[in-house]
This record gives sequence, C-alpha cells and structure tokens, in this order.
Amino acid sequence: MQKIIITGGAGYIGSHTAVALQQAGFQVVVIDNLSNSSVLSLDGVARITGTHPLFAQVDCTDLESMRAVFEQHSDSVGVIHFAALKAVGESVEQPLLYYRNNLDGLINVLTCMSEFKIPNIVFSSSATVYGVPSVLPVTEETPLQPATSPYGQTKVIGESIIRDTVAANAGLNATLLRYFNPIGAHPSGLIGERPNGVPNNLMPYITQTAAGIRPILRVFGNDYDTPDGYCVRDYIDVNDLAMAHVAALRHMLDGATGVSTFNLGTGRGYSVMELINAFRDATGVDVPYEIVARRAGDVPAIWADASLAGRVLNWHADTPLSETLSSAWLWQQNSEK
Ligand code: NAD
Ligand code: UD1
Repeated sequence: MQKIIITGGAGYIGSHTAVALQQAGFQVVVIDNLSNSSVLSLDGVARITGTHPLFAQVDCTDLESMRAVFEQHSDSVGVIHFAALKAVGESVEQPLLYYRNNLDGLINVLTCMSEFKIPNIVFSSSATVYGVPSVLPVTEETPLQPATSPYGQTKVIGESIIRDTVAANAGLNATLLRYFNPIGAHPSGLIGERPNGVPNNLMPYITQTAAGIRPILRVFGNDYDTPDGYCVRDYIDVNDLAMAHVAALRHMLDGATGVSTFNLGTGRGYSVMELINAFRDATGVDVPYEIVARRAGDVPAIWADASLAGRVLNWHADTPLSETLSSAWLWQQNSEK
C-alpha cells in the first residue's frame, strides 16, 4: 500500500480527500493542529471507508515536530499540503499570522520532503491567484495578479516557493491545484464543512439560513455587469475536488516530473441567485434573502476552463449541482444533531 501524508487532513477538503485516497487504496497519514477542525471528521472518514487514517496532532510551523512525523513516515510517496488558514477578512486584519502560518508551514513541508526524500507534493492553491480576470473562462495560462488579500497572497507566493524549490531539486515534483469554489459534503452526510462562527462563504450561509440558524441571507450586490446582475462563480463539488487529488498524485507516480498546474472547476458559472434557486429546487427549502451593497474585494465573475485537467488527468467534475446542494443540506441537518 502506498502511503500519503496529508497536512490539514482533518479539515473540509482534506477529510473528503482522505476518503477518496483510502477508497483508491492509499494509506493516509493526517497531520493537523486542529486549529479549524476536530478529530470527529476523521471518525467520519473511518465510518465511510472502514479505516481510520493515522493521525498526528502537529503544527506545520513546528519544524522539529514535523521532522519527527516525516521520519516515522519517510516511506511516503507524496504529500498533499492542505494546511492553511483561509479566512480572507481575518487575513487583512492579521497578515503576519497568515504569512507565518501558511508560508512557514509550506516551507517546513518542503524542508522535510527534501530531508526524507519524499518526491511528490500536491498544493492547495486557489482561483484567487487570478485576481479580477479580464477574459473568461480562465485557463492556467491566464496571467496571475497580485491577490486582493494577504490570504490570497499566501497562495501566489506559495506557488512561487514551490516552483523555485522544484527548479532547484531534480528529485522533487509538484502539482498546483487551483480550486474554484468548493461546496457540498459527502453524500453519506458523515463529513462536511464546519465553519467557525458566522460563515463568510455563500454555501454555508445558505444552509445555515435554511436551517433557521441565521435569519436572512444577505446577497452582496445585484448591479454587476453579469447576465442577471449577481456575481458569478464556479461551484465545484467537494467530492469531485477530492478525486482530482488522487488523479494528480497518480499522474506524478506514473512519471510526470517538474511542476504541473491545473484549474479545478466545473467550467460553468452560476450567479448567486441561480444558486439560491437551485438550492430551493434541490431541497424544497426556500432561503429568505435580501439584496445589500456589494462586498468589498469581490470579483464580479470568474469560472474555470478546466479542460487541461480533463485531458491530462482524465478528471472531470461530474456531480450534478442538485446532488451537491442536497449533500450540503443533509450535512447541515446532521451537524445540528
Ligand atoms: P479547513 O480550514 O477546513 O482545513 C484546513 C485544515 O488545516 C484545518 O483542519 C486546520 O486545522 C489545519 N491547519 C491550519 N493551519 C495549520 C497548521 N499550521 N498546522 C497544521 N494544521 C493546520 O479549510 P479547507 O476549506 O479544507 O481548505 C483546505 C486548503 O484549500 C487550504 O489550503 C485552503 O486555503 C485551500 N482552498 C480552500 C478553498 C475553499 O473555498 N474551501 C478554496 C481555495 C483554496
Ligand atoms: C472567497 C474568497 C476567496 C477564497 C474563497 C474560499 C473573497 C474576496 N474571496 O471567494 O479568496 O478562496 O472565499 O474561502 O473573499 N455572497 C453573498 N452573501 C454571503 C456570502 C457570499 O452574496 O453571505 C456572494 C459573494 O458576494 C460572492 C459569492 O457569494 O459573489 C461567493 O462568495 P464566497 O463563498 O465568499 O466565495 P468567493 O468570494 O468566491
């Protein structure tokens, strides 16, 4: 069995990826400091797959503790590095916290990989590296722009750190995965997104409003230069996203060298209002909303050209939106119990 280390594996995308990896026959070692997650998600992974991932509660910024875990699992064939702080607003208020956590963590992972000769890394990047794109959809060739937040900057800089490190190390290969907007939960309802406090993102805000936890959803702006005036995003099912990590890893294990970069989206944009309506159609639940002013820093419209991942990784996001929204709603109901 091939062994994979996943940092941030107790989190939202990491736990779904742990399921996909275990179901694909990999042995999973999770490193997480539980700053934005709990071991309950790994119990959920175990209930879904029948196997509990190995777990080390370690902070990626603590190099000595990281070395100890990597030494113990130096037979790993790769690392998937999810561990990061991701609250955009908080990153504007506490930039050093974000630069330290996200970049020190990445540098420590790369240091340990080099010391223990682990050859393959998959990095969680984001569509935020494209800033406000002038041509849609965005391809991997679309020029990067300085991100609008310190969080986004940690992705732009993180990608550069990896490119430079691979260029200097013949034995190291990397895949940079630029996620668009991950939503939904595992269809079992056993794992999902667990936002801390009031959600910033649209999907958990919709499900919490549908559940009556929030009185009303505020829709940020209806005067954008888009077909219906609302912002447009590419919402990708988290289980499809998880499968892309397995495909990316296999691509490197099959011999891909150097740095590969892929957009991970559906290739289709939905407006905020289309998503609210699709949620009602999928679940039968109406979400009360009000239109308010635009949110500072929002990109009017962005969606992916994800055809490169289709051609090279043979990966497609094919879960119907209605199933994704139903899974998000099932998870919301389960997580209140
Ligand atoms: P999440 O917060 O659910 O998961 C991140 C995990 O990393 C958490 O379990 C947290 O406890 C852990 N972590 C954070 N800092 C750590 C550290 N220093 N040491 C060890 N563990 C640490 O977030 P997620 O949505 O699953 O995001 C995973 C990755 O994907 C992140 O890198 C994020 O920036 C990136 N990403 C997420 C989205 C999104 O919309 N969710 C979009 C684009 C990119
Ligand atoms: C945001 C971040 C991005 C990050 C991603 C995942 C910004 C500018 N971008 O992306 O860097 O990678 O989250 O964490 O913050 N909306 C509402 N009402 C709400 C919440 C959202 O109308 O209560 C709208 C937003 O205006 C946007 C869409 O829903 O048009 C999606 O918002 P969100 O889920 O926050 O994702 P992004 O803004 O795309």
